[in-house]
Amino acid sequence: CNYLKDKDRKEILEILCNGLARQEYRGYDSAGLGIDGDKPGEIVYFKEVGKVAGLRKLISESNIDTSKTVSSQVSIAHTRWATHGPPSYVNCHPVRSDPKSDFMIVHNGIVTNAVALRQVLQKRGYTFESETDTEAVAILTKYIYDSQPDKRITFTSLVKTVLKELEGSFAFVFKSVHYPNEIVTARRGSPLLIGVKTEKKLKVDFVDVEFAGPEAESKTVDSLAPTSPSARLAPPSGPKMLRRQSRNFMSEDGTPQPIEFFVASDAAAIVEHTKRVLYLEDDDIAHIAEGQLHIHRLRRNEPGQAESPATRSIETLEIEIAAIMKGKFDHFMQKEIYEQPESVVNTMRGRVNFEANVITLGGLRAYLPIIRRGRRIVFCACGTSYHSALATRSIFEELTEIPVSIELASDFLDRKTPIFRDDVCVFVSQSGETADTILALRYCLERGALCVGVVNTVGSTISRETHCGIHINAGPEVGVASTKAYTSQYIALTLMALQLSEDRISFTERRNNIIQGLHELPAQIKSVLESDKSLQELATGVLANSRSLLLMGRGYQHATCLEGALKIKEISYMHSEGILAGELKHGPLALIDENMPVIIVMTQDSYYPKVQSAFAQITARKAHPIVICNDGDDGIQKGVKTIRVPKTVDCLQGLLNIIPLQLLSYHLAVKNGFDVDFPRNLAKSVTTE
Ligand code: G6P
Repeated sequence: CNYLKDKDRKEILEILCNGLARQEYRGYDSAGLGIDGDKPGEIVYFKEVGKVAGLRKLISESNIDTSKTVSSQVSIAHTRWATHGPPSYVNCHPVRSDPKSDFMIVHNGIVTNAVALRQVLQKRGYTFESETDTEAVAILTKYIYDSQPDKRITFTSLVKTVLKELEGSFAFVFKSVHYPNEIVTARRGSPLLIGVKTEKKLKVDFVDVEFAGPEAESKTVDSLAPTSPSARLAPPSGPKMLRRQSRNFMSEDGTPQPIEFFVASDAAAIVEHTKRVLYLEDDDIAHIAEGQLHIHRLRRNEPGQAESPATRSIETLEIEIAAIMKGKFDHFMQKEIYEQPESVVNTMRGRVNFEANVITLGGLRAYLPIIRRGRRIVFCACGTSYHSALATRSIFEELTEIPVSIELASDFLDRKTPIFRDDVCVFVSQSGETADTILALRYCLERGALCVGVVNTVGSTISRETHCGIHINAGPEVGVASTKAYTSQYIALTLMALQLSEDRISFTERRNNIIQGLHELPAQIKSVLESDKSLQELATGVLANSRSLLLMGRGYQHATCLEGALKIKEISYMHSEGILAGELKHGPLALIDENMPVIIVMTQDSYYPKVQSAFAQITARKAHPIVICNDGDDGIQKGVKTIRVPKTVDCLQGLLNIIPLQLLSYHLAVKNGFDVDFPRNLAKSVTTE
């Protein structure tokens, strides 16, 4: 909207496609976009099943006039991870309300009452072309607009009325032929931010929230069947939104200025245009038109509910564009594996004093006494983040002597796990936007527990909604298979355990050893990366035709095996299972024969003798295990294939052991020609339940 200088369509399409490509890791089943057409109010759209590259091709082969120049316009674009309806042309976003595209929307999330809405709207004569939940919202918008006798409703009021009918989670952007040059965007449960690009420095770096008065609440309409779940469907009444010149986008000299706005789920999509962003809160509705941004609330605060702040501040992102580019690497995943010597340093930077053996986690400091008094620590996470919690559980229990439980967020919610005020709940998440983890967080907040976030993405929902926490500072992670975030989470959690135990004299020596181990880690990671070539040979040699791969270990290395197996399944589509070596004789041993490939993690810690006996049990069944062991370990029989890693402190060894498994999974995927960064059926950030 309102460009700083006139733009031609080519540039606008480029901005949209680049933005989609940067967010593609969130979902890549299909991609689409809608822009203003040549005639006033006309919307032109393109949709393509598959990746953004296909959409680009479709546009370049179309006969759209890309030279047309505009000074202001509204465009929307979307890349999809299918939840309702398979990837197909009609299910691709933007989703339209009718063949004339009165309303077009893009949506991230799931509207859980979409079936009920669809039935109500079908009864009223509206027809649907897709299987998406989103279409019910587009058609509902048209229905409410059509029921306005004078059509003088503002775009914001219209969307507000629509949103009040919706259940579930969403981030929406609405575009309409009836409101040219206007856009409305709103969120509940799904991430949404607005980038602001101005010519001059702004006078104030926040945007006021315009709270609706009581009269703006919509009244119930009786015309719909009272039994319908959407009996509240109500064409809005009440006053039009107050239009005033906002003070927010004045330049320092007091003059309004040209401005560009970028709405996105993720900062990566917009950082090349601006680093100035504001994050919307749940139930915020933002209206953008004529170079102005107005933020409204969907509802007034209920009595007793925490007040929503009266402003949304404009923050400056710290990510650099280079951090979200592949550089010299073939894939993001490869780049991120290779970044680990630096990313682990970034996690520790300013937090570890290696001379004095002191840890300082600024984001936790004020809460340390409460955490130490807690009756237990509950970790809650999904996927790789869950594994990082598992990897550090033992050191937490050892150093803090507080009972620790580890929960998969979805299961935690299914079980309605009892949570109490004196519990400390730690939510680990790379994205900070995983829906299951967010719901678990809100569940714990409601029960009065202290909630700690361990996240990578600054400004994410989990980082904002927790009481305190640690940013792992691994830098943007784009590859769907998480690598550097795992090692940084592992370190951040270890630092937390170290900080919590700083007052325990009896642990001084142990703590100091771990801190010195952390100091040596970056160089050791570098040396593990040097085994890349031999891991590639393993992937293209011994393991080339394997259909399954078992990973075994115990103690600290159980998490390594689970995480290694997850990497292998995620990107090479090979069946892979992480097995606790202690459980071998309780079932998995039946899988072992001369044809079953096994990797056994046998680095030197106190469990070493027990893992040796697991090794003996499987070789007695004719297996030919590949052993991950420490440099200089002579105990491994001649002829056994080994992957050597440097030795570190037992509780940090998993940080080194995981790296060969990351590289191995990478090479297994590349060998098969699979799309490493975009594995089938997966998304990096799962913002739906
Ligand atoms: C998805 C991703 C995984 C990730 C998990 C948790 O499943 O594909 O790589 O580990 O979500 O994500 P989070 O952002 O919460 O760490």
